[in-house]
Amino acid sequence: MSLTIALDGPAASGKGTLARRLAAAYDLAHLDTGSLYRAVAAKLLAEGADPADAQAAATAAESLRPADLERPDLRGQAVGAAASVVAAQPQVRAALLDFQRGFAKSPPGGKRGAVLDGRDVGTVVCPDAPVKIFVVASPEVRARRRHEELIGRGDTSIYAHVLEEIRQRDKRDRERATAPLKPAEDAVLLDTSDLDIAAAFAAARRIVEDRLAAAGTQQ
Ligand code: C5P
Repeated sequence: MSLTIALDGPAASGKGTLARRLAAAYDLAHLDTGSLYRAVAAKLLAEGADPADAQAAATAAESLRPADLERPDLRGQAVGAAASVVAAQPQVRAALLDFQRGFAKSPPGGKRGAVLDGRDVGTVVCPDAPVKIFVVASPEVRARRRHEELIGRGDTSIYAHVLEEIRQRDKRDRERATAPLKPAEDAVLLDTSDLDIAAAFAAARRIVEDRLAAAGTQQ
């Protein structure tokens, strides 16, 4: 039986780490859907184009190639902020939808399923996923984590700026008209504010097991 796990949540909530760990634990493929929006944004920034230019953003999304996902600059703050600007544009989202659905339906490497993490996986990309988790954490905790990640990578970072950037990104992601960030009705909320990675992973795993057991008893 194929298995799709949808893992959504705001910036720096820890969903990427959880998605990678869940994929390893259940031997599933993993797609970081944010990297698609980041790749579109990075292309535009590299061309000197404005991420808010709908036509340029749509063209960049439609011509996205696998190599674009390997760019070394995808994880930076500037690209993340520009990604949330391009992600608000319906044409960009439409251009990236088929790839995400195809990945979930026919995961690469012959895997029996996939974990997709992002903002709208449970609501738009894979609304039928049997397991949906919405990961949250307070803005301050998320800013602290992102700040430490940036410092750990040798980048310069100011906590107050990271917090402000996270707040702005949350606002853009939640208030956009197309596929806004919100939990699917059947998603389980996982608050990682007070959890370290091991505890958050254990909690996510329990949610998956409970969901699978419930799905099994319904058949
Ligand atoms: O998760 P990450 O921070 O890499 O995502 C970058 C941006 O891409 C987000 O702020 C969001 O605007 C956008 N995104 C999205 N839908 C997804 C994944 C990411 O709109 N499924």
